[in-house]
Amino acid sequence: MHIRPFLPADLDALKQMTVEAFEGVSIDQGIERVYGIIVGHDWRWRKARHLDADLRRDPQGLFTLVDAQDRPQGYVSTWCDQEAGIGHIPNVVVVAALRGQGWGRRLLEHACEHFRSRGMTHAKIETLAQNAIGNHLYRDIGFVEVARQVHFVADLRRDPPGSQIVAVT
Ligand SMILES: CC(C)(COP(=O)(O)OP(=O)(O)OC[C@H]1O[C@@H](n2cnc3c(N)ncnc32)[C@H](O)[C@@H]1OP(=O)(O)O)[C@@H](O)C(=O)NCCC(=O)NCCS
Repeated sequence: MHIRPFLPADLDALKQMTVEAFEGVSIDQGIERVYGIIVGHDWRWRKARHLDADLRRDPQGLFTLVDAQDRPQGYVSTWCDQEAGIGHIPNVVVVAALRGQGWGRRLLEHACEHFRSRGMTHAKIETLAQNAIGNHLYRDIGFVEVARQVHFVADLRRDPPGSQIVAVT
């Protein structure tokens, strides 16, 4: 197993592992729990698109964990805010069968090395309160909690829209 730069041929596999991995730890799934399917799309469709957004933002910032046969088993996505000196980690995934063996930690360390090589002085990652592994792992690597956020979504078809805002978790 090793980490290499993302290749376009990885994309379908990464999207597949993303929707499997984020079951129970996705804001998009929280939205679906409250409002159901939105304009014909489920939370998996929205979550898989995050990878397209990550690639648009920085195609050189995605790194794939592959096995000996070069089959994707995980990834970390990153982008650098050069002016602010902060590297961002929007997504990190390891397939379920390989979790708990240190690969998530290796992917995050790889991301931090990438940030250092780009001159970043700090790294930023977010996780949901219910993501027990994320909350443990990020602190253990050296990330420090600086704030908590609540996500709200409103159904704009209702009247008045402002009275129907619901927090999603
Ligand atoms: C987050 C993720 C990438 C970590 O990958 P991983 O390969 O399991 O990570 P590691 O093996 O390096 O480390 C996992 C750590 O969590 C710990 N852990 C496992 N289950 C845990 C639990 N229920 N509660 C707290 N800690 C837990 C492990 O003991 C290990 O810590 P340790 O090294 O101190 O023993 C992986 O779990 C994943 O893909 N999750 C689904 C997607 C996701 O949540 N991504 C992050 C969104 S912010």
